[in-house]
Amino acid sequence: MTGNSSNIKQSSPWYNLILHLHPGKVRISTLDFKLTFGLGGMAALLVVIQVFTGLLLKFHYIPSPEGAYNSVLNINDGLLFGKLAHNIHHWSAILLLWITFLHLLRVFFTGAYRKPRHATWIFGMLLLVLVILSNFTGYLLPWDQLSYWAVTICTSLLQYIPLIGSPIKEALLGGNEIGSVTLSNFFNLHTGIIPLLMIVMMGYHFWRIRKAGGVIVSDKNAESALVDTQPNLVEREFVVALVLLAFLLVLSVLFDAPLRERANPSFSPNPAKAPWYFLGLQELLIHFHPFFAVVVFPLTLLIGSFWLPYIKLSDNNHGIWFLSDRGKNAGKFAAASGFIFTIFFIAVSELLPDPETVMKVVPSIITTGLVPFIIIIGTIFLYMKFLKKKFSLNRSESIQSIMIIMVMSYTVLSLTGIFFRGEGMKLIWPWMI
Ligand code: HEM
Ligand code: HEM
Repeated sequence: MTGNSSNIKQSSPWYNLILHLHPGKVRISTLDFKLTFGLGGMAALLVVIQVFTGLLLKFHYIPSPEGAYNSVLNINDGLLFGKLAHNIHHWSAILLLWITFLHLLRVFFTGAYRKPRHATWIFGMLLLVLVILSNFTGYLLPWDQLSYWAVTICTSLLQYIPLIGSPIKEALLGGNEIGSVTLSNFFNLHTGIIPLLMIVMMGYHFWRIRKAGGVIVSDKNAESALVDTQPNLVEREFVVALVLLAFLLVLSVLFDAPLRERANPSFSPNPAKAPWYFLGLQELLIHFHPFFAVVVFPLTLLIGSFWLPYIKLSDNNHGIWFLSDRGKNAGKFAAASGFIFTIFFIAVSELLPDPETVMKVVPSIITTGLVPFIIIIGTIFLYMKFLKKKFSLNRSESIQSIMIIMVMSYTVLSLTGIFFRGEGMKLIWPWMI
């Protein structure tokens, strides 16, 4: 196929726009859908949708405690297509989080975090942080019971960060409690600073992808034939975009964004839960000392992610999903053990007496922080040695297995928080909530 057979002429402004995003020719091997699943492109489209629907909502949204809730009711019930715009903004935000995370996993499992893609990975991590922050700051804006108390819980966690936690909390809230300054801060971050940072970083992210010579391919495919980007790549991207848009539209027509009663600062619902993406963290807080749950675990994860591209790997298995059959089997094993281990941990922590009451003389940061942290890290280390030996894994495959254990573990913690925690955050069956 050549560019002449396409419906976008090479002299048209659209073609010029495409050339700002893509090179004129791409390797045929990069067109394989299973290489990227189109996830990065989907994330980019969802950000555009968020900016577009967000700007529409901004015309009618009032960022004050007196006006916010009513303005959202007005958007829903008083405006032509207002509810649709609100629903699209809501579902697209959730999809964006999922798609960005899946994109991270695809990049990780095809080894695309290594040089020369290290900066793309690191800026990708920053983009993920921004996606989470835009979801979080948007969460407060409807100003209903759900959003008010979820944000109260999350911002109260900031105080466990030594030295900087309390000043950040005070600056963000504009005092000790959520009020009009908080809403205005969240609104400005949500509709100004965060989207701006996101657009700048996306530009850099895309530039780095081109600088690295396009998406990663295996060595076997490195010299595959070059074909015209338009229509070969552009038409494929168009199909993915249309399917995503259709899915988002159906979701938004069928399911309304949740809106509870107006926020009531003097009545806290029981249980008061964080937004779903932070529920794994809230679950950790039930089992560990707050300093470890809020600072040590997330920081270890963050440092590990930034350090990842600099780990020396001699094997040349980039551009291949899961590398060898041994790697795949170890992955399944790791998923099963992450699942069982986390459930076992929750059950043991629930059934055993609270270490703080048994060993009153020992500070709780040691009994419920340092000791369990060392036990967990030690167990993972020994378990990885066992996996490596059992499946004769290379280094990349071992790192993949660690990632699978962690993702599975956070999934189980989150599901426990969502479905198995009732009044007073006690463990109960989902049908009793
Ligand atoms: C990646 C980007 C964005 C994400 C993830 C996001 C996420 C969210 C979320 C989760 C909500 C709460 C909606 C609900 O559940 O009811 C929200 C509300 C809102 N967002 Fe965004 N948003 C983004 C970008 C923007 C932008 C760029 C603007 C405007 C310039 C904007 C304006 C608003 C407004 C005015 C509301 C309050 C009205 C409502 O609740 O529908 N958002 N956003
Ligand atoms: C708003 C969020 C993001 C957007 C819009 C975005 C967009 C994209 C696009 C369009 C691509 C090329 C096509 C593809 O791989 O699907 C890509 C590649 C890449 N992304 Fe992202 N990305 C985002 C977040 C992330 C995150 C969270 C990470 C990882 C931490 C990441 C790391 C990378 C890397 C390393 C590549 C190069 C992959 C390769 O060469 O095969 N990105 N991104």
